[in-house]
Amino acid sequence: MFSFVLPSRNKRTYKRRQKMHFCYTIWFFILFPLSDAETQHACQKFCFCKDGTMFVNCSGVSTTSNLIFPPETEHLDLSNSNLHSVPTKGLVYLWKLQILLLSGNYIYRIEERAFISLERLQKLDICRNKISFLGNSFSVGLISLQELILAYNRLQELHYKSFQHFENLQNLNLKNNNISSIETGTFRSLTHLRKLCLQNNHLHTLHNGVFSMLKHLEVLNLEGNAIKTIASGAFTSLSSLTILNLVQNKIEHIRFQTLLSLQTPETHILLSNNPWFCDCDLQRVFAKLHSVRRLILDDYHNVTCMEPHILRSLPLASVDTHLCVAETVTVLVITFTVLVTVVAAIAMAEKNRKKRTGKHWSDDNEVTYDAHNWASNNYESSAL
Ligand SMILES: *[C@@H]1O[C@H](CO)[C@@H](O)[C@H](O)[C@H]1NC(C)=O
Ligand SMILES: *[C@@H]1O[C@H](CO)[C@@H](O)[C@H](O)[C@H]1NC(C)=O
Ligand SMILES: *[C@@H]1O[C@H](CO)[C@@H](O)[C@H](O)[C@H]1NC(C)=O
Repeated sequence: MFSFVLPSRNKRTYKRRQKMHFCYTIWFFILFPLSDAETQHACQKFCFCKDGTMFVNCSGVSTTSNLIFPPETEHLDLSNSNLHSVPTKGLVYLWKLQILLLSGNYIYRIEERAFISLERLQKLDICRNKISFLGNSFSVGLISLQELILAYNRLQELHYKSFQHFENLQNLNLKNNNISSIETGTFRSLTHLRKLCLQNNHLHTLHNGVFSMLKHLEVLNLEGNAIKTIASGAFTSLSSLTILNLVQNKIEHIRFQTLLSLQTPETHILLSNNPWFCDCDLQRVFAKLHSVRRLILDDYHNVTCMEPHILRSLPLASVDTHLCVAETVTVLVITFTVLVTVVAAIAMAEKNRKKRTGKHWSDDNEVTYDAHNWASNNYESSAL
């Protein structure tokens, strides 16, 4: 019912907002008896309201998208309220709103600029809905938002445009979605982010720069994805990271450089429940990781081998000193073989040389001698 009073909302300069406030206030004044009656109605009949109408709790009540809430509402609980969409009309004049809970509904689509006037909102919880797509204007207006919970939805792809106005976001929870792709630079605007939960999604590759600009990120949870490939620069800009959880992915091998690029004084890295390919290379990587004091492999004793078959399920810790043995033995055998061959060749050559030189002398002697003999014999015989 208020939408017709709203001026164009695409410019957000302070002056303009002030003007808009004034405009809204006038309209509220005019519409006050009506809106008051509605809110009274909502608070008395549907929802539980506390401290005047600052806390409005409609949780568990089947509401409709057309509900009107008191304009002074600061905390609004609309969880488990049978909602099929965000009640945008009801939210549009709630400038004081700080906490909005929409979890456990059936919301599958978020309208364009649904939260545009909620510039004081600090926490938005939309978990356990059916959202598969966040529009380009999803973040518009939410410049104060610190915590966003989108867990247990059906998101598949994340795009930069959906997140570009979350400049104060500290905590982003995207766990238990269906996310398989993150556009490069998606988190570029989230320079204050401290915790990013992406566990139980379908990520398979971490590209270079996927977490760029997250220099205040402390916790990155990627547990339970399908990550197999991690680009060596994927974690480069995470200069505050203290926990990196990569448990239960599809990692067979990791490069030393990939983890070395974490520059925090202390980063705890979790790597168990991956199908590690235990070879000499892996042994070397882990040996080097152990030697870097700032990288702490908390669950190293739970890191087990998947391949080669003979080592399956064995802890890497119990076999890692032997992994290069075979290689060393092979190298030794090859070296030994080469050495023996070379020595044999030299010996043969020497023998041949000796034999050849010896024969030459004696042959010459014999020939001379024989010739001499023959000559002298001949001479003797002819003389006789
Ligand atoms: C709202 O009320 C429900 C029970 O009716 C309660 O479980 C919930 O915690 C309340 N919400 C808030 C934010 O207090
Ligand atoms: C999850 O995403 C995959 C494609 O990445 C799709 O095939 C599948 O149907 C999705 N599942 C759900 C529950 O949306
Ligand atoms: C290792 O695995 C065991 C059994 O699954 C678990 O109880 C323990 O907490 C794990 N340790 C670490 C450090 O993850």
